[in-house]
Amino acid sequence: MPAPAAGLFGTIRPCLCGASLFPERGGRYGSRTGRIHMVDIHQGYENHLPRRVITGRGASGRLAEICLGRGWNRAFVVSDRGVESAGLLAPVAASLQAAGVLAGASADITPEPPLTDVARLADQIRAAGVDVVIGLGGGSVMDATKVAALVALRGGGPADYVGIGKAGGRGLPTILVPTTAGTGSEATFVAILTDTAAGMKVGVVDPALLADVAIVDPALTDGLPPAVTAAAGMDALVHAIEAFIARVATPIARGLALEAARQMGPALERVCRHPGDEEARDRMALGSHLAGMAFANASCCAVHALALPLGGRFHIPHGVITGCFAGELMRHNAPACAADFAALGTALAWGALEPHAFADRLDATARDIGLRAALDRVVVPTADIAPMASVAASNRRLIDPNPVPVTAADAERIYRAVLQVGG
Ligand SMILES: NC(=O)c1ccc[n+]([C@@H]2O[C@H](COP(=O)([O-])OP(=O)(O)OC[C@H]3O[C@@H](n4cnc5c(N)ncnc54)[C@H](O)[C@@H]3O)[C@@H](O)[C@H]2O)c1
Ligand SMILES: [Fe+2]
Repeated sequence: MPAPAAGLFGTIRPCLCGASLFPERGGRYGSRTGRIHMVDIHQGYENHLPRRVITGRGASGRLAEICLGRGWNRAFVVSDRGVESAGLLAPVAASLQAAGVLAGASADITPEPPLTDVARLADQIRAAGVDVVIGLGGGSVMDATKVAALVALRGGGPADYVGIGKAGGRGLPTILVPTTAGTGSEATFVAILTDTAAGMKVGVVDPALLADVAIVDPALTDGLPPAVTAAAGMDALVHAIEAFIARVATPIARGLALEAARQMGPALERVCRHPGDEEARDRMALGSHLAGMAFANASCCAVHALALPLGGRFHIPHGVITGCFAGELMRHNAPACAADFAALGTALAWGALEPHAFADRLDATARDIGLRAALDRVVVPTADIAPMASVAASNRRLIDPNPVPVTAADAERIYRAVLQVGG
């Protein structure tokens, strides 16, 4: 695990599921439960948010108007096959074409995009000579768009920008339009790509990646497949929870996290049971967006630290893992988080639950929306538990912000409690 690096605003640390970028903060403020946040309001802190956010059913229909209003006359649209087959790319391309601003499009992005896809995309964008890049898709498409827009303008290859604060300035302007309700990538300054040669996921982390415009149009999520709805939605809920309890959360991040919870609490189980429930879709789209802004200005914590080695080894959808580990990790965090869990429980419309009841409620949600059954289909060899626990516990960027320390022994116990282990 790399040590925190000296960066733009002092010492900065990365966090893969929405990287954090914050100065070391010497001061502290406390809570009635004795939990200590590291942010010193007097000393100050920085927040990084998208420049313009447009929300609402049908808002993506304004893309051409927004481009022309900003003087962007040549737009390139990035998407993937799933989004194209869901029928979401054609109307967007047609409206840009009708306004005379469509200069190119690609639906070739592979989910969890390899660096090579992004390099090819940057070449296509450069060749098209465009002045704005539109990412229409889930986290995979939006992350590819962010980095390709940087590479197309600033040169080099995507690998040159992996790490923290390596952009050296903004790339081509971007408009990010999510079609999943999960990652919040349209609101963050991180992009997660796959280094296929090294067999690992890598992060490009820089405020220069923030979208010029984010358009959150819940109608684009109406046809999301049930498994993606459940996994991405639960992951967004975990983002809100971890952002709220993170020791490095800024007060603005905590406010955003609480509102994210308020939006998603009454909606997550409902949208999984009734995919056509538009109000629930609206709430998940807005909630996941707010949760993205929240964790970008706080951090994800130990749930994500334990999720990464498991996801890397077994290719289980990320939200299945974070959803199933949230309960056990919140049980671990219980001694420090009574007031925060009561506040989150109230926001989620679950009631001001005591910590163990809060953790039980998370387990019940993961069970009800099918994540538990999905995880139970995977049997993890006993021999893998200790190495994964060691990797998870040494992930300082995700473990340090956790309200209660997590040792390798803790991680091992939690893996055994949550996973089917055998062989
Ligand atoms: N940048 C960040 O802040 C951030 C945060 C968390 C995760 N991530 C990254 O985001 C990626 C995952 O993103 P994701 O969960 O949004 O999934 P995704 O973008 O990988 O999409 C999953 C699948 O759903 C399809 N799909 C997307 N929208 C659809 C729709 N409306 N209808 C039908 N099919 C649709 C896609 O074609 C794809 O096949 C991972 O690479 C992850 O590491 C990034
Ligand atoms: Fe996540």
